[in-house]
Amino acid sequence: MNDNLHQLRCFGCGVRISGTEAQPDFRCAECGDLFEVDYPGWGQKKGHDRPNPGALKWLWRERKCSSEALDHSGVWRFRELLPILDSFGDAVTLREGNTPLYSLPRASKALGIDQLFAKHQGMNPTGSFKDTGMTAALSVARERGFKWVACASTGNTSAAMAAYAARAGLRSLVLIPEGKIAWGKLSQAMDYGAVTCQLKTDFDGCVRVLTQIVREAPIYLLNSVNPYRLEGQKTPAFEIAEFFDWTVPDHLIVPGGNLANSSALGKGFRELKELGLVARVPRISVIQAEGANPLVRSLGLKHGASLEPVEAHTRATAIRIGNPASWRKAARVVQDTGGWCIDVSEAEIAIAKAELGAEGLGCEPASAVTLAGLKKLRAKSLVSSGETVVLVLTGHTLKDADYTIDFHRGTLLRDEEKTGNEALIESLCRNAISLEGTPEAVLATVKGVA
Ligand code: F0G
Repeated sequence: MNDNLHQLRCFGCGVRISGTEAQPDFRCAECGDLFEVDYPGWGQKKGHDRPNPGALKWLWRERKCSSEALDHSGVWRFRELLPILDSFGDAVTLREGNTPLYSLPRASKALGIDQLFAKHQGMNPTGSFKDTGMTAALSVARERGFKWVACASTGNTSAAMAAYAARAGLRSLVLIPEGKIAWGKLSQAMDYGAVTCQLKTDFDGCVRVLTQIVREAPIYLLNSVNPYRLEGQKTPAFEIAEFFDWTVPDHLIVPGGNLANSSALGKGFRELKELGLVARVPRISVIQAEGANPLVRSLGLKHGASLEPVEAHTRATAIRIGNPASWRKAARVVQDTGGWCIDVSEAEIAIAKAELGAEGLGCEPASAVTLAGLKKLRAKSLVSSGETVVLVLTGHTLKDADYTIDFHRGTLLRDEEKTGNEALIESLCRNAISLEGTPEAVLATVKGVA
């Protein structure tokens, strides 16, 4: 059966090619920009290939009770909206997606926003949102007969790729910047059997090296320049819309690194609207770390017309990226939806992460930029109390345990970074207490904090 209904359309010059015509680095041969997956049949007002909104909503709900492996995936449950494979039987799945949408009662109260939620993508099989994209693109790699897949990564993409490659019986090559990724993520790539190379450069340098490699060797590139990744990563938009019974929240807040996730979620909501499944799209805001903020600068200084790469510095290693590949797509999403793009400091990230931890959720530092950004937007009255806001938490708290421990020990931030927030930071720190091994010592401590 051929389920495949897609083409690739260049985001820059609009040229269309078939999926198999893409160059190994997924850049347009005409203008060098990135491609987007497009489904020509959806543009027709009526017709065989245009999905029927009512029937889809019913079908996707029914699949929640199905016993088929593909229906257990929160990505492939929506497969009618990502017909990228010749046969869905080729899909490689670890039951990704179906992630929880939690309310945030404490942050809600503190910020005076009634409806505040966190879509926790860290609850995916390898602990980050990358699984939703990897199931899609790795399935394409397997269907097209590749034996090797590769990515450059700040850690989560490599963990996800290595796991899905292992499931599919493919070999995987990981390029990571030496000393600049969290241990949890590095350990995953090793555990899932990737050939893991730590390069003496940064993430952007790893991307440059890998781009050369895929031009010379038959290795399938799984960085997010691969447009099929974004097809999987758009599906949390469907889950969110379904959760709210096909109305959409007012505002979605997403961390920004290489800027594929914001692009993908924007595409997901846009397609839902174009197909008549929802009436409008949410405002989508992108938050970056102050030391890795090329999109903030591009939109602030150049209205998104060009992007100056920066040398990236932040302890939120997942988003330590100075030259993001998908910046044009993300800029379009922010501009088209009326969102904002702002940056947050290292202290703001650390505080927000501890606050999410104190809600019983936890996340990795890169995810906490969303709450830190929301606080800033709220302080500027750019978010009103009546809005429904969803923060996209992208990674699990256990990915970067060193960061969390350093924060609670009080050794993460330098004194000058804490200025003005000393009392708040002090109140959030919960360092482990060293005691004699007696009940009296423990009970005295409990009394002391009660
Ligand atoms: N949050 C986490 C936990 C991430 O791992 C990343 C990106 C982002 C946010 C940013 O998403 O790049 O789509 O804007 N991590 C990549 C990696 C780059 O290699 O794992 P983005």
